[in-house]
Amino acid sequence: MTDRSITVNGHPWQAQEGETILEVAARHGVEIPTLCHDPRLKPAGACRTCLVEIDGWRRLAPACATPVTEGMSIVTENERIDRHRKTLLALYMTDHPQSREESERGAPDQLFDMVARYQAPSDWGVLENKRQGRPDDRNPYIQFNPEACILCARCTRYCDEVESVSAITLAQRGSETTIATVDAESLLDTTCEMCGGCIDVCPTGAMAEKIPLVRGDKPERELEKVRTTCNYCGVGCQMDLNVDPDAREGQGKVVKVTSPPVGTTTNDGNLCVKGRFAYDFIDHPDRLTQPLVRGEDGELHPTTWDDALAKAATGLRGVTERHGPDALGFVSSSRCTMEENFLMQKLSRAVFHTNNVHQCAAT
Ligand code: SF4
Ligand code: SF4
Ligand code: FES
Repeated sequence: MTDRSITVNGHPWQAQEGETILEVAARHGVEIPTLCHDPRLKPAGACRTCLVEIDGWRRLAPACATPVTEGMSIVTENERIDRHRKTLLALYMTDHPQSREESERGAPDQLFDMVARYQAPSDWGVLENKRQGRPDDRNPYIQFNPEACILCARCTRYCDEVESVSAITLAQRGSETTIATVDAESLLDTTCEMCGGCIDVCPTGAMAEKIPLVRGDKPERELEKVRTTCNYCGVGCQMDLNVDPDAREGQGKVVKVTSPPVGTTTNDGNLCVKGRFAYDFIDHPDRLTQPLVRGEDGELHPTTWDDALAKAATGLRGVTERHGPDALGFVSSSRCTMEENFLMQKLSRAVFHTNNVHQCAAT
């Protein structure tokens, strides 16, 4: 790979062939604001927040979509760029929810941070937002709020390029352009896998999580994040449990699951429907929290682990004595680790002398 000699804000830097201005700047610790950029997606150059000045170029250029070339001289901050960003952000806000609380009921909205950071004017009036949503979408998890959408297309590109699902797309024209499904069907009637990736990538909260929205949870920035490993399968995706520390009389309660930032974990910011949305078992009244053994009255009664394991062993031994070892079958869970699965087949083969052992993730 050939190096490129470039200058950024007066500093001579080396860049690699094919790198964009945004990537080189990030590698050197220079932050350029972005809204439509996601390192997992092909550059779209849609939001124009990352525009920079390049010597000899008449127009400002999107840093996320412009590869460096030999001798390029780039400026990432000056009065012209600042004026452009202020104008752009003020225009975005004209048909955007004016209150942060309103916009952030279901997911964070970075636009407000950016408006504050660049001191963009907020008195340019309010335009009618003509984007149509899907008010009757009966899916349980994802809400599209058309007023907050800035048409950055991160959600549609994620759905297409990362999930290979293409359940959502940009539709209509001009100010009516919106995020649509085929025939405005509910996401449940499309190819959508309910991964929630569109919520995760949306920079403005336009793609939001329904349950916290309906429950009226605190905004995500007021929740505490606890990094953990998903226990639904053996892949081991990293996830952040979002805990409301004041819920349940100060004991705290998990109210949402989000992905860790892209590039920091092996699942690279991606989660599946179970990892992202199936967390209500944590506080479910039917959750098993202690061993139970059925008594002579036919009811389940709490007991100790030693007693429960002893009774299970007696029951299994009784089956082999009466019907032979192949009357037993062992099924292990895909939630187990490889080592736990190994122990299950050892128990089946070495202790009970049957090869009837299966793991539910086998394909
Ligand atoms: S949940 Fe996943 S599959 Fe469904 S629309 Fe969003 S990104 Fe696409
Ligand atoms: S819903 Fe969000 S991610 Fe999708 S285009 Fe609108 S602002 Fe971008
Ligand atoms: S981040 Fe570059 S145009 Fe949106």
